Amino acid sequence: MINQLTLIQPDDWHVHLRDNEALDVTVPAAARYFGRSIVMPNLKMPVRKVTDASRYRQRILQHRPKGSKWLPLMVLYLTDDTSKEDIFEAKKSGFVHAVKYYPAGATTNSANGVSQLTRLDPIFDAMQNSDLVLQIHGEVTDENTDIFDRESVFIDRHLRRIKEQFPELRIVLEHITTAQAVQYVEENDRYLSATITPQHLLYNRNHMLVGGIQPHLYCLPILKRDTHQKALVKAATGGSKKFFLGTDSAPHAMEAKESACGCAGCFSHPAALELYAEVFDQADVMHHLEAFSSINGAQFYQLPLNESQITLVKESWTVPHEIPYCGSKIVPLAAGTKLNWKVKLP
Ligand code: NCD
Ligand code: ZN
Repeated sequence: MINQLTLIQPDDWHVHLRDNEALDVTVPAAARYFGRSIVMPNLKMPVRKVTDASRYRQRILQHRPKGSKWLPLMVLYLTDDTSKEDIFEAKKSGFVHAVKYYPAGATTNSANGVSQLTRLDPIFDAMQNSDLVLQIHGEVTDENTDIFDRESVFIDRHLRRIKEQFPELRIVLEHITTAQAVQYVEENDRYLSATITPQHLLYNRNHMLVGGIQPHLYCLPILKRDTHQKALVKAATGGSKKFFLGTDSAPHAMEAKESACGCAGCFSHPAALELYAEVFDQADVMHHLEAFSSINGAQFYQLPLNESQITLVKESWTVPHEIPYCGSKIVPLAAGTKLNWKVKLP
């Protein structure tokens, strides 16, 4: 039995930091042990232009703890108005690493998302030529599609076509939640990969809905049935290079989630790597954690691996029940749960 594991410093390839005073909480939480974080652009006023990304990056960096070398990797938000020039500028900037597709209305702050995917073909073409990564929130949003089918329908209706038409466009299918997504990513080439969140590995829809609604497990894409959870665990822990860590840590104040119309998003950063460690430990493949957390993502984004290392020790501790946030509080993912692994910080 291993009691300690040293890994190349991990990165988080999908996080929501929000803006302004939220950054007091989210940036130190992101910088605690991750080397880099891909910062989602779904602010109230989305990050559409390279100048928006540059300003947002500065605001984030002002909150970076002293001495930390953590880096925010910026992302542009695709809208109906995104131009080819935006793509060329993004590539040239050096700090914008991807462009994110949200279907209009799919999730938190996505009202400015794309209304019709095919209109983006010239943009996808420019991205393929510039070799800029496309991140996809892979859900359809038409009201006739059941919420539990939205991801698999997206793959069949849209992703297959995008892959055929833009075979060398690097695509990350974000926060996958279904066996269909796992299979589609596995059977595809090296231009397609996927991130997986801790909540989709640790929970299924029974955890969210049996014995009373658990609003703190409500995120999008929504938790699916246990067969999907098992397929995701197999994909994440199986050693494939195509899957990597993206927490989708997404803070919402407690009252916004415990509400008649609760927000989607789980804040996992108080225990992010530790939650993944539980999953890998349960699957008895702790030796596969490093590739998932610290290698596969960097390689897909064509960035060097982090040079430092971190150590996980087998030590039991309890995820905090709540943490202060913008004059309110957040109930983090797995609040009050006893975990077996802890990152040992210097
Ligand atoms: C995210 C958020 O709160 O910004 N919510 C979520 O449920 N994952 C948005 C997103 O990534 O879909
Ligand atoms: Zn997200």
